[in-house]
Amino acid sequence: MSNTLFSPIKVGRMTVKNRIECAPYGTGLFRNDGACGNKELMHFRNLVRGGVGMVCIGTANCSLDNPPPPGPTIPYLHNQFLLNSYSNLVEIAHQYDVKIGFELFGAKELFMPAMVYVNTYTKEDIQNYQKGVVDAAVNVRDIDADYILIHGGHGMIPAAFYRESTNKRTDEYGGSFENRIRITKEILQQIREKVGDKLTIEYRISGEEMQEGGLKIEDQIKFAQAIEEYIDIFNISRGVLEYEEDWPFVFPSVYEPRKINVANAAKFKAALKKPVSVIGGNSMFVAEEIIESNSADMVAMVRPLIADPDCVEKFRLGKADEIRPCIRCNMCIHRCHTRLLDIRCSVNPLMGREEYFGRIDKRIDTKKVLIIGGGPAGMEAARTASMRGHSVILVEKTDKLGGNFILATKESFKEDLKKYLEWSIRTVKKDKNIEIRMNTEGTADLVKKENPDVLIIAVGSVPIIPTFTASGTEKVQWIGDATKESLGKNIVVAGGGFTGLEAAYDYALDGKTVTVIDMIPEKELGQGASVMNKISLMQKLKTHKVKLICESKVEDVTTEGVKISNKDGESVIPCDNVVLALGQRKNTAVVDNLKDIVEKTYVIGDCSNVGGTLLNAVRAGFEIAFDI
Ligand SMILES: Cc1cc2nc3c(=O)[nH]c(=O)nc-3n(C[C@H](O)[C@H](O)[C@H](O)COP(=O)(O)OP(=O)(O)OC[C@H]3O[C@@H](n4cnc5c(N)ncnc54)[C@H](O)[C@@H]3O)c2cc1C
Ligand SMILES: Cc1cc2nc3c(=O)[nH]c(=O)nc-3n(C[C@H](O)[C@H](O)[C@H](O)COP(=O)(O)O)c2cc1C
Ligand code: SF4
Repeated sequence: MSNTLFSPIKVGRMTVKNRIECAPYGTGLFRNDGACGNKELMHFRNLVRGGVGMVCIGTANCSLDNPPPPGPTIPYLHNQFLLNSYSNLVEIAHQYDVKIGFELFGAKELFMPAMVYVNTYTKEDIQNYQKGVVDAAVNVRDIDADYILIHGGHGMIPAAFYRESTNKRTDEYGGSFENRIRITKEILQQIREKVGDKLTIEYRISGEEMQEGGLKIEDQIKFAQAIEEYIDIFNISRGVLEYEEDWPFVFPSVYEPRKINVANAAKFKAALKKPVSVIGGNSMFVAEEIIESNSADMVAMVRPLIADPDCVEKFRLGKADEIRPCIRCNMCIHRCHTRLLDIRCSVNPLMGREEYFGRIDKRIDTKKVLIIGGGPAGMEAARTASMRGHSVILVEKTDKLGGNFILATKESFKEDLKKYLEWSIRTVKKDKNIEIRMNTEGTADLVKKENPDVLIIAVGSVPIIPTFTASGTEKVQWIGDATKESLGKNIVVAGGGFTGLEAAYDYALDGKTVTVIDMIPEKELGQGASVMNKISLMQKLKTHKVKLICESKVEDVTTEGVKISNKDGESVIPCDNVVLALGQRKNTAVVDNLKDIVEKTYVIGDCSNVGGTLLNAVRAGFEIAFDI
């Protein structure tokens, strides 16, 4: 273990206990009136207990123009009663020696297209924006928080004013370099005048904007140097949120590499005197390497801490194999930012529900729990039931744990999912309260013989496989059975859910010619994925020339190819193989056979009514086992 990763660092006036920063993330867990209630408080407590050095509360509204809440469930920094509720967060953070900051979000229209306002903002708008941010900084200091983060990345107001291609103003806020950075420099000057060095200032910047006309690394370093005297630490991200194409890089999807901003961070570090932190696809496993290679002074992350808030402490204690890995599915951000729902996580079933479930303590009235099915739902139920002190028997009919999720780890770019699966298997195997019986079918006889207090049925789903003329030959293969080796060069994937699309991308990466056929319109393809990952996957399919044929029905597969029908009539698409990705249906046969034997019986995961993703399987396994 590196000493450097866990050595303290001075950032402005604060000393952070280690080099791990939780970057800003909005949770959707604040109350509708903007107050910090128990939902956010309990969530936050779980986070700061886990060993992270500093934490930034995301998207704190500090605009004077926005009506105060009720509104989105985010903090609002100009109301004394609300500020009082945020001081509870400060107390908890300090209890665990964690530094706490607020990300100041000061635009007139909170989730605004900043590019437009650059040219429409009047002088009064600019002054209001500046006053909102500056006064909020003072309020943050007054509740004893440690730092603020000014968001100048992701195309926010400071970046939009600086970008020459968007700023067409002719007054003192447009034109020359000095004019284009004036709005930001004035804010920083005013904040320093009011708070001196009593507050650390972090500045978030996109190391590069990715679309045409965007700011490049040289522009951004020049900007950083020009404001460096006011800033204590720079946080290097990338991209512009106004461009959907950039989302998979702001929240790097599973299809992108890790550490995507480290090379840029190293350039900032070389050019600046102040410390630099880096965000984007990092994890505890790469953090050590980033610090040791001197590419950055701190490593920022969000999703690894959502997936496992204890990951820092586990790593510090040499228990890295216990860290529950994030699979970069982006369901967290999809829920709380795209759908404005409370945050949830595919692998961490407690996420956003810390208040409701509280601590996972052992129960006094422990029970014998029999779980049929060793997929993600069954394994999560086994883990949770064991944590509650129950004695657990987990029965799996095959010789492998993991169920259908094993298939989800097949593609070359699914390393993160493989790591999660390995973690899941490792943790149930290590658990002494869980007796695992492999190659054992859960039958009515077995259930009667074991006579458990509680029976959990988690037998998953079976594929939907229609019969075609060429069925039974190698021409037609189910997605779960097909491998790159078993397929020829020219492939048709029938079904454009995210499972089918991911397979199509994988085959294309292997050099095959791939066509995807689905009955639904193109914009509805990729169902089941987060919008960020869907955008990412669609970009990859386009780059790799995967052909999409939508609003078309597969009528038959013959030795010749796939016969389809659509509004233009019928046609045949010649191919070597057809891969069926037409979805799954509940394993009702087994459920019906087992469900009436034990009084307390629960049906969870893909074999229940709510299924289809890891998120649902894990959530169900946890909830039922928690309540036993
Ligand atoms: C090809 C494919 C790719 C996928 N990719 C993704 C993805 O990228 N992301 C995502 O979130 N989801 C993905 N999914 C969906 C995800 O895998 C499932 O939602 C998840 O596995 C459901 O978990 P489960 O435990 O309910 O069921 P399953 O994973 O199906 O597990 C059920 C288990 O029960 C066992 N079993 C069945 N009958 C008995 C019996 N009588 N006795 C004992 N054991 C029995 C089975 O052998 C199996 O191990 C994918 C699914 C498929 C098919
Ligand atoms: C659930 C969630 C909420 C986020 N909310 C914010 C936010 O309020 N403000 C912000 O600047 N970035 C926000 N982000 C972006 C993160 O700060 C970070 O840049 C991004 O998640 C990439 O880092 P990671 O790979 O470590 O997750 C959010 C990310 C997630 C996953
Ligand atoms: S929802 Fe997915 S991306 Fe978000 S933290 Fe959990 S595993 Fe990671």
